[in-house]
Amino acid sequence: MPGLSDPQIILALDVDTLQEAEGFVDKLYPKIKIFKVGSRLFTAYGPQIVERLHKKCAEVFLDLKYFDIPNTVAGAVAAAVRLKVKMLTLHILGGQEMLKAAVESATRQAEILKNPRPLLIGVTVLTSQKTKPEEVLALAKQGLACGLDGVVCSAKEALFLRRKIKNNFIIVTPGIRPDNSGKDDQQRTATVSQAIKAGSDFLVIGRPILKAPDPLLQTEELLGDLYGAGN
Ligand code: C5P
Repeated sequence: MPGLSDPQIILALDVDTLQEAEGFVDKLYPKIKIFKVGSRLFTAYGPQIVERLHKKCAEVFLDLKYFDIPNTVAGAVAAAVRLKVKMLTLHILGGQEMLKAAVESATRQAEILKNPRPLLIGVTVLTSQKTKPEEVLALAKQGLACGLDGVVCSAKEALFLRRKIKNNFIIVTPGIRPDNSGKDDQQRTATVSQAIKAGSDFLVIGRPILKAPDPLLQTEELLGDLYGAGN
């Protein structure tokens, strides 16, 4: 049972320049409504990139995978709430104190600003690494017990988590590859339809769209797989 009714594709804006990032948004919004800003783009441009994407009505997934002492992460999360991002990531391996401090800080800051609280998504094990599903399950349980809204995991573990965790929660899945395409540096890949069937809510896709000869056509094909997956 997925955590949300309408699964969505998120484009990972893993590019070097503001121009390239805005070019993809201009080309793909509103077929894609959420764009992921990670360490690459944020290190180069800072909050400006988030503001620029918001000006184009796009929603932002801030994927900085926070992992630090509780006080520092609480401050970073509050800053992300002020930036009005839709969702953000933290490493569950950062520990319970860190996760609870983040949840408390996000909730407080959102109340002060009367903004919706961003979805707080815990990174279990990177999809570029090999792992056991039990390890992902233990981390997911820990994150959700601390108040996170959901977790990042590969499609391979999504089904396992849906079976083992009865409560409703969000699953974000990277490592999506169209059929017959290469894996790049990802170890645990799946197709759009496999990820949806496994119970993922948000599919994070980077290189298969960014490097496609025609990114719009590729997006339309992937959206076709997404809408067709439930049938
Ligand atoms: O290019 P590709 O589709 O492999 O991009 C996947 C995106 O998802 C990258 O931006 C990567 O940082 C991110 N990600 C991941 N594995 C995680 C969390 C995020 O690959 N566990």
